[in-house]
Amino acid sequence: MSVIADNCPDIEVTLVDIDHKKIAAWNDKNLSNLPIFEPGLKEVVSRNRNKNLFFSTDIENSIKNADMVFISVNTPTKNKGFGAGYASDLKWVESCARQVSKYSKGHTIIVEKSTVPVKTAELIEEILVSNKKVKSVNKKTFSVLSSPEFLAEGTAIKDLENPDRVLIGGSDKFAINQLKDIYLRWIPEEKILLTNIWSSELSKLIANAFLAQRVSSINSISALCESTGADIKEVVKAIGSDKRIGNKFLSPGPGFGGSCFKKDILNLVYLCRFYKLDTVAEYWEQVMLINNWQKQRISSLVVEKLYGTVSNKKILMLGFSFKSNTNDTRESPAIGIAKDLIENGAELLLNDPKVTKNQIEKEIGIRELEIDKISFGKWEFVNDIYEASTGADAVILITDWDKYENLNWEKISNLLRKPSWIFDTRGIITDDLLQKIDSNFWQVGYPMTNS
Ligand code: UGA
Repeated sequence: MSVIADNCPDIEVTLVDIDHKKIAAWNDKNLSNLPIFEPGLKEVVSRNRNKNLFFSTDIENSIKNADMVFISVNTPTKNKGFGAGYASDLKWVESCARQVSKYSKGHTIIVEKSTVPVKTAELIEEILVSNKKVKSVNKKTFSVLSSPEFLAEGTAIKDLENPDRVLIGGSDKFAINQLKDIYLRWIPEEKILLTNIWSSELSKLIANAFLAQRVSSINSISALCESTGADIKEVVKAIGSDKRIGNKFLSPGPGFGGSCFKKDILNLVYLCRFYKLDTVAEYWEQVMLINNWQKQRISSLVVEKLYGTVSNKKILMLGFSFKSNTNDTRESPAIGIAKDLIENGAELLLNDPKVTKNQIEKEIGIRELEIDKISFGKWEFVNDIYEASTGADAVILITDWDKYENLNWEKISNLLRKPSWIFDTRGIITDDLLQKIDSNFWQVGYPMTNS
């Protein structure tokens, strides 16, 4: 929305939320207190805030005054009831539709921005038109469009400024043109794809499923490389040079995280089962199974390499966000790996350039495990990586922050208690650096025969 405001000075954009604290943070004079860390966002907000970009909790009047309403609420996986563990919970989308139905005036275009299961637009439409009495008195009319978002966190502003494509799904030509006109201000027409509403909804799930599938594919091969003596970096180079395969999204890692991949794949699996396409459902479910397996294989190999026990051993974990350049920790592989190590008795020292101690506490919960009143497994947040390395038994690199790539790994290795281990789950430590490291070393997809 900030990028729309930035490119369309004549359009007034108002963001509303029921969460007063969140809106207050978006209005905070100190731009470092914005609720989301995203490179470039601070600048866009500061250029436009209180000019044509507003943050408000006045939902009623904001809807009344709007010609177009973007529904951008979260759609988490249901944890109970029918479809629990797979289907998306649409209660927030539904509640937005009810509010638009109640407060809107005249003709309103509703744009479904949240990632939703196929046919959600139909549900929104049903809610909007069901309030017949209000409709006839106030002459309300609605058009529903689907325009899913493809930005990735960490590169959101760049992705929005220069997207590969913008997708608009719907059947009402007037509404489609209104939305298209907004994007045309900065996006070439050939990048704006028009489609029917269901194809648009499904395309979003499938784009994420394909991306996640690539990560699971390369992670599965990383394990095979470690066992056979092949090097994943060489394999990636060789297969990525084939234009049909392409070289993007082929970096092995500790498993994909983020709020979307898991949710969207589970949604896809649910959808396939609903339409009795069980074999298709099983195919996509494997993408999730490999992802869980990769995370678990990393925690158990850390224990195994540290001579079968991490009890009372100090392990420095670098990175807690699910990828670099974001403070988002949702579904981060760091969560499961950290919990596994703590439950096995490790003293974990956690560092992240943007994730706060409080956020980590929310994700891991426990600070200290106790068995028979004896402390067994704990974690603390550390700021100074070199100080934390002193006397530690191992370092495990989880998030691909540039900062970690540029650390003095030779110094870190020298500070560790010997025999020490460095585990690089992102493959960022180069061969040159490796020569200087006086520690045992494991890198994802690196031939173990060489270590
Ligand atoms: C993803 C999609 O890339 C966006 O197009 C989509 O709009 C978004 O989900 C969404 O639905 O909201 P995002 O989750 O922000 O974006 O981040 P990605 O860059 O896709 O990374 C996802 C996970 O895969 C991260 O944990 C990342 O570290 C991992 N990954 C990615 C790898 O392990 N290897 C790779 O080569 C690429």
